[in-house]
This record gives sequence, structure tokens and C-alpha cells, in this order.
Amino acid sequence: MLRPRIMRRILSLWSRVSRNHAFPTIVGGCVVLFVLYWVVVFEKIKENGGFKEMNIPVDKDFVPFGVTSMEDFPPGGQYRIPRIIHQTWKTDEVPVRFEKWIKTWTKNHPTWEYWLWTDDSARQLIAERHPHLLSVFNNYPQGIRRADALRYVVLYEFGGIYADLDLESIKAVDAMHRKYSCFVSQEPYEHPILDSNFENLVINAVLGCRAKHPFMKLLMDNLPAFSHMWDVLDSTGPHFVTLHYRKYKSENNFSDLHENGTYLAPAEYFFPTIDPIKHFWMRNQCSKFDKLTAIQQRACMNLKVRGVDQKHLGISFTDHHWIHTYVDFKITLKGPVDIHKIVPHVKIYRAGKSNSE
Ligand SMILES: *[C@@H]1O[C@H](CO)[C@@H](O)[C@H](O)[C@H]1NC(C)=O
Ligand SMILES: *[C@@H]1O[C@H](CO)[C@@H](O)[C@H](O)[C@H]1NC(C)=O
Repeated sequence: MLRPRIMRRILSLWSRVSRNHAFPTIVGGCVVLFVLYWVVVFEKIKENGGFKEMNIPVDKDFVPFGVTSMEDFPPGGQYRIPRIIHQTWKTDEVPVRFEKWIKTWTKNHPTWEYWLWTDDSARQLIAERHPHLLSVFNNYPQGIRRADALRYVVLYEFGGIYADLDLESIKAVDAMHRKYSCFVSQEPYEHPILDSNFENLVINAVLGCRAKHPFMKLLMDNLPAFSHMWDVLDSTGPHFVTLHYRKYKSENNFSDLHENGTYLAPAEYFFPTIDPIKHFWMRNQCSKFDKLTAIQQRACMNLKVRGVDQKHLGISFTDHHWIHTYVDFKITLKGPVDIHKIVPHVKIYRAGKSNSE
């Protein structure tokens, strides 16, 4: 807040200046043009990241990251992962902004079960089946950690697909559930490379697994040991999953199709768009091209060649909208809607019952 004395001084200065009418008109005009220019630039960057226009040298032999077509899937047959969609929220009143994305899941999977896991039903499940995890769960300092931990327990117990609420379903995932026993996905390739110079970050915003899969058990069993990590990414989130994914892969030699195998899906399947919040940072990184590592330089080339959005390739099951719940909490909480209104056949777990409500 400007204090009144400062305000008075600014006003008197302005009135002295504006005795000459031409001057404020010109200054005002320039300010308006300047602001408009940046609004246009900013909107353009927000839309496409603006990497195509950047001066990034692309090698002649550069091969873009990832895939441009879908792998072969079995045309039909048995499901290896149950047809259950799992989502989580604190209560059964979910923020209205997620409603349209929840509906894309039930629309694309009309015969599948839909389960919402609330804090209350989560505690009931953990108390009933993994009581030694209950104090870890209750003592997590942030809700996001509980949400992370919960998805591993739920998939271990019931199997199915877990999806964050800001994940939009583009097409049915039946093919994945028929082919694999467990699949995870990586974040857009450029995220970990330009952030921290490493490749293949496994994200936990979508996970599909049969019940009792040993990889989910590994995640679940390591929750207590990692619960004290300061950073949520390391404690329960993507870094935690990536670490254990690598460990699991190196200690076992299961093929992707094995009943205990884990398949790392290309980013284009589930995360075809770069997080817009990172555009500015990535532009900043790529503008210092000569100082980057070789793999970072290739990430910049990839951004220039492929852009920030690969949905148009037509091979995406989902698109992730990168709502950072833990950052813009207040917006997220606006306008709760009863999940029963959005998904009339929703199931919410109650301990001690063979089924749910
Ligand atoms: C892993 O399995 C593949 C076949 O699936 C085999 O060719 C390879 O030698 C195995 N590697 C190890 C370290 O056991
Ligand atoms: C899969 O993992 C489970 C649990 O570790 C184990 O009991 C089972 O024998 C494994 N299956 C195969 C075919 O290796």
C-alpha cells in the first residue's frame, strides 16, 4: 500500500506534468502499446512456448524424442488389469473445475467401475489392510503426500487405473489394460532434462496395475522409510517412483509383458503437453544454449522441432492439464460438486464391507 504522503506527492507531480497536455498523451500511449505488445508476446508464448521462433541450432541428424505412432495392441481378449478407474479427493465434494475431466473418463469407459477415494475411506482401507502404514499416512505434513501414498495402496489392493483429477481422458485405455500387467508413464521428456539434466522421470499422475503387483508392493513398502524426506517429490512423488522403478528394473529382468513386468509408456501416450508453467524457464535455459549439456541441447532442439503439444499426433490416451493443486489451492477449492452428481455409479470404500456404497 502506498502511504497517503507518497500518493499526494505522486499526484502533485502528475498534475505539474500534465499541464502540458501533449506529454501525458504520448506517455500514456506508449505505456498502452508497451503493455499490449507484451500481452501479445506472452499469450503466444503461453500457447506454443515460442520455441519455434527461438534461435536454436538443430543438428542435421537430429532425431526427435519419443514416438509418433502407437505400438501394436492385442485386438481383444482378456484384461490383465481390472477395469476400475480410481481417483482421489479429500471428500466426496470435488472442485467444480475437475467436473469436465472426470466426465471424460466415465464417457470413454462407460462399463468400468469408478471409485473415488476420500481421506476418510483411505484411512479405513489402510487401517483395515495395512495398519502399520496408518501413522505414516496420518503424519504426512501435506495432503499431497497422502494422495500419493494412497494410490499405491489402492492399486496394490484392487488394481485398475489411477488418474489425477486434472487428467482428461481422450480415448479408452482398454488396449493398455489388455496388454500389460502394470504400466507407468514418463513426464514430457524435456521436463527432467531441462530442470535437472536427467532423463525418463516416471510420473505418478497416472498408473495402471493389476492387484498384488510386486512393483506396487515395493512402492508401498518403502513409504515409511521415505516419509521423512523433506521434498514431496522425493518422499512420495515422481522422484520416489522413479528411484524405485529403476531399482525394480535393475533387480528383476521381467519383460514388459510379464505378469510382474512394468512398462514405461512414452510421454505422448499420457502427457502430450509440456507444463505451461515451465515455458518461461525452458526458454531461459535454451537461450543459454552453448552452456547446456548435450542432452539439454537436444531437448531444446526437440522443443523447436516438435513444439510443446503433441496431442495432434493422435496417439494420446490422456492429456494432463498441469493444475498445481498445492500451489493454487484456493482456486481449486471453489464450487464443490457432489461426486454422486457427476458419476451416479461412483463407489466409495467402506471398511468391513465386501463391496462399497
Ligand atoms: C534378461 O532377459 C532377456 C530375455 O528376456 C535375456 O536375453 C537377457 O540375457 C536377460 N538378462 C539378464 C541380466 O538376465
Ligand atoms: C511374480 O511376483 C510374485 C511376487 O514377488 C512371485 O511370487 C511370482 O512367482 C512372480 N511370478 C513369476 C512368473 O515370476
